[in-house]
Amino acid sequence: MTARRPLIAGNWKMNGLLADGRALAAGVAEKRKAFGESAPFDMLVCPPFTLVTAVVDAVAGSGVEVGGQDCHTAEKGAHTGDVGPAMLKDAGCAYVIVGHSERRTDHGETDAVVKAKAEAALAAGLKVIVCIGETLEEREAGQTLDVNKRQLNGSLPAGASAENCVIAYEPVWAIGTGKVATPEQAQEVHAAIRAELKGLVGGIAEDMRILYGGSMKPGNAAELMAQTDIDGGLIGGASLKVDDFIGIAEAAG
Ligand code: PGA
Repeated sequence: MTARRPLIAGNWKMNGLLADGRALAAGVAEKRKAFGESAPFDMLVCPPFTLVTAVVDAVAGSGVEVGGQDCHTAEKGAHTGDVGPAMLKDAGCAYVIVGHSERRTDHGETDAVVKAKAEAALAAGLKVIVCIGETLEEREAGQTLDVNKRQLNGSLPAGASAENCVIAYEPVWAIGTGKVATPEQAQEVHAAIRAELKGLVGGIAEDMRILYGGSMKPGNAAELMAQTDIDGGLIGGASLKVDDFIGIAEAAG
């Protein structure tokens, strides 16, 4: 196994007007630069579509990459309100998040849809962050590992590699709630995801990054990322403040 390089990814969700987005991106870029070329992590920010171009400009040359929060399965066409993966790539994105639980809930996205989006994104030359995670009801019913395995099997794109695909385990009950999974709870699921990945992609599973997401903050990030199978974070609320986001990155080092 090669050492997996942590990925610190910010998911800004539906937040930020142009001035805020520019300032946040510029602040993150400046602090990222201070880590220099030997930073022990990769860093990504995923702004809303309206801010992608401005954020790409603001982080240029800093080592911070930019991603979309969703994409359509089609390259182009009559899909009012949607954005295709080639458009994200053209705008300067390196990544796209697919299958976030808010997309699954708000837009009824199924595993099959998520997989199709991920495959379209890979075909356009983007890297994907594929999100999975159980609800509180499923956890309380003892279905956590089954649900995550099922979502992984259904959502993982064909052609997934350690370079082009990242998995994000985001327990729905921990997203935006301030309730973080304990390091043990998170590690249990991450280990099960990696074991399942082995069956799906073989030895690549050892090199594929699995991020934790759900109320990650500077105060809990080090403990979470110290777990064997936790390779960084997908961070919502705390990615909207430069110091919190950078504090999490510091915990990765
Ligand atoms: P949170 O969101 O950090 O605000 O809990 C994480 C996510 O939904 O990606």
